[in-house]
Amino acid sequence: MSDQELLRPALEIDSVEPTLEKSLRPSFLGDYIGQETVKQNLSLCMDAARVRGDSLDHVLLSGPPGLGKTTLAHIVAHEMGSNLHTVTGPNVEKKGDLAAILTNLQPRDVLFIDEIHRLQKTIEEVLYGAMEDYKLDLIIGQGPSARTLRIDLPRFTLVGATTRSGLLSSPLRDRFGVQLRLDFYPIPELEKIIFRSAKLLGVDLDAAACTEIAKRSRGTPRIVNRLLKRVRDFAQVRAGSAAGTRITRETARAALELFEVDDRGLDKMDRRLLRVLIEKFDGGPAGIETLSSALGEESDTIEEVYEPYLIQEGFLQRTPRGRMATRISYEHLGFAWEPSVES
Ligand code: ADE
Repeated sequence: MSDQELLRPALEIDSVEPTLEKSLRPSFLGDYIGQETVKQNLSLCMDAARVRGDSLDHVLLSGPPGLGKTTLAHIVAHEMGSNLHTVTGPNVEKKGDLAAILTNLQPRDVLFIDEIHRLQKTIEEVLYGAMEDYKLDLIIGQGPSARTLRIDLPRFTLVGATTRSGLLSSPLRDRFGVQLRLDFYPIPELEKIIFRSAKLLGVDLDAAACTEIAKRSRGTPRIVNRLLKRVRDFAQVRAGSAAGTRITRETARAALELFEVDDRGLDKMDRRLLRVLIEKFDGGPAGIETLSSALGEESDTIEEVYEPYLIQEGFLQRTPRGRMATRISYEHLGFAWEPSVES
């Protein structure tokens, strides 16, 4: 790679997220609801880094999608008064891409790598030296004329986010000084998030409507905000409420039924997964690949997006022999529970 290539602009910042979500995102830790342990840890580390006048240690955030990992990365950059640079693991295709990003950082900048478990191995290795010694070793040229170029990097903070911390190699995981796990939110915290978002969106809803949305949001703020917006649309158009009319539980419930989200927060795909497991595999155990082909859905998506909530709520069990539907699943979907099935 030529030195010129190194100076190529960094990968474009990913901007796939809807604007709604961005506008609802808190900018300060103080406005971030829930995840108390995560907040306390981040707050302590940020205070310490500020006192030392140093960059914050590298932070690894893990947990199911939609719980606020990206939001926390924004907050860290904002509270440290630094710039945030965002990339997604699989989008970093060449070592040069990462080199360009790293060499364009300012001291104390935050580099956020989403889906960091999807980084290619060769690219991941470039990160080791960058994270540990703030050095970038590049091999320029090929064969006998190849030479190594060692570039000093500014002291930056890497914030890595992953839905699958188990897939991270230990050399990479060990280089994160701060490792935090986000969990699904309990209903009262989801209710607070709904009220906060409703206020920002100018939506008026009563407490019962708020609870109804919270109950059906799979413990996930991203889903809270999506459902809230849909309930607002429904109230305006279908329920014929004039703008500014308070949304009631009945309206919220009718909207959520239309969107096929049930009273346990399961959507069409969750129910399909459980139904396939019960009807085609006698409730399991069924291997993830078998389930994946029966559903026509990537096994990664099943593992990262659907399973965590189904497991936490007791609908699904992960056993060494495969996935199994539980009694809760049978009853929820209206199937007779047969105790003879393996449980
Ligand atoms: N929006 C999305 N997640 C949030 C959270 N945890 N706190 C406040 N607002 C949010």
